[in-house]
Amino acid sequence: MKVMVVGGGGREHAIIDKLKENKEITSIYALPGNGGISVDAVCVNIGAKDIDKIVSFAREEKIDYAVVAPDDPLVLGCVDALQAHGIPCFGPSKAAAQIEGSKVFAKNLMKKYHIPTAEYRVFDSAEAAKEYLREAPLPTVIKADGLALGKGVIIANTREEALDAVSSLMEDKIFGASGNRIVIEEFLTGPEVSVLSFTDGETVVPMVSSMDHKRALDGDKGLNTGGMGTVAPNPFYTKKIAAECMETIFLPTVRAMKAEGCPFKGCLYFGLMLTEKGPKVIEYNCRFGDPETQVVLPLLKSDLFDIMRAVTEGSLRDVAVEFDDKAACCVVMASDGYPKQYRTGFEIRMSAGEPGCKVFFAGVKTDGGKLYTAGGRVLGLTATAATLPAAVKKAYSCLSNLSFENAFYRKDIGQKAISVLEQNADEA
Ligand code: AMP
Ligand code: GLY
Repeated sequence: MKVMVVGGGGREHAIIDKLKENKEITSIYALPGNGGISVDAVCVNIGAKDIDKIVSFAREEKIDYAVVAPDDPLVLGCVDALQAHGIPCFGPSKAAAQIEGSKVFAKNLMKKYHIPTAEYRVFDSAEAAKEYLREAPLPTVIKADGLALGKGVIIANTREEALDAVSSLMEDKIFGASGNRIVIEEFLTGPEVSVLSFTDGETVVPMVSSMDHKRALDGDKGLNTGGMGTVAPNPFYTKKIAAECMETIFLPTVRAMKAEGCPFKGCLYFGLMLTEKGPKVIEYNCRFGDPETQVVLPLLKSDLFDIMRAVTEGSLRDVAVEFDDKAACCVVMASDGYPKQYRTGFEIRMSAGEPGCKVFFAGVKTDGGKLYTAGGRVLGLTATAATLPAAVKKAYSCLSNLSFENAFYRKDIGQKAISVLEQNADEA
């Protein structure tokens, strides 16, 4: 079987790494992939947003199955286009991808189906938004309706910051048409949990929970990034909370999407906040999270390709989805300066890996058989071990086998999770 994975970051590398365990798959193509992925898949120089070229390639190569991983092609309708040519896909339709592609769609869905989330208002004029902000409680959260490279959320602590955010999004259009409409919502507090799930539109199977580390610097300081590291499982997410989320969030969301005529098939990502009033949805993503996938998939015991095909065929309830009762930690190595300006083109040096450690490449290119940095987030190193403290320790010790000029990474990935575990143990 020939499988194609659209995308080219650490998430796609983790998906490809897992797909390789399936014996039916004879070849894997990555579009565009990256220099580091080329060890595990044939990289084809077609951008993830170039839907026409993706479809032509799939037809010419007689691809048997496609996995569309990033948000952009999903929101642009890549799955619909491939399916129109008879190519089975993992990933939601364009209509279902709206759950991430439009914050207004997601918020209205939650309101209509009583799914717990922050209170909100929608504005399509800057004037009306600014008028509302004169009296709104602070801090307040301002979100661009459309995709904005994960940067379309502004938490404003003062009225001035809030008004500036509206001007940047709606008047200066820093994210283009994504800022034509905005959502202004209630500021919530509590620990955050990422839960990725498989769903075929009817059945929903949550994967092991995880914790992202979004800020650039230790102690959750510095700018927001795409994610500087992850751990799984997330110790804040107890069995009791998981059961509550299934009842109040996961199943209602999947049923709501079906009722709206756009059943969601693929990986539905729930970004949750555990507030004093119970778990609430902060955001939905229509895809695997990055770098969450880099800790979740290494813990998956079952065959990923079998699960993916069951999602496509609507038979998810008939397959086993099991996770190892272990822990994983992923530390992202980035180029110094990320998420702002950074330099690239530095050689990546690696000594022999250790068992239980995997390197997933992101901003990397090859030249003359060597690997060079080519992006902000360069790679993620994931370690798995019996316990979370052991996984964190192992990840940092494996990291010393990797180096490149201008590298930087957070030194405290997993520390918050470890303190929660210690606290839970004290209380038990
Ligand atoms: P998002 O891109 O929607 O995941 O938002 C980015 C981050 O902003 C989230 O991970 C939260 O930390 C924060 N955030 C988003 N919405 C809220 C909210 N209503 N209250 C507090 N923090 C929020
Ligand atoms: N790590 C968060 C995301 O993938 O959007």
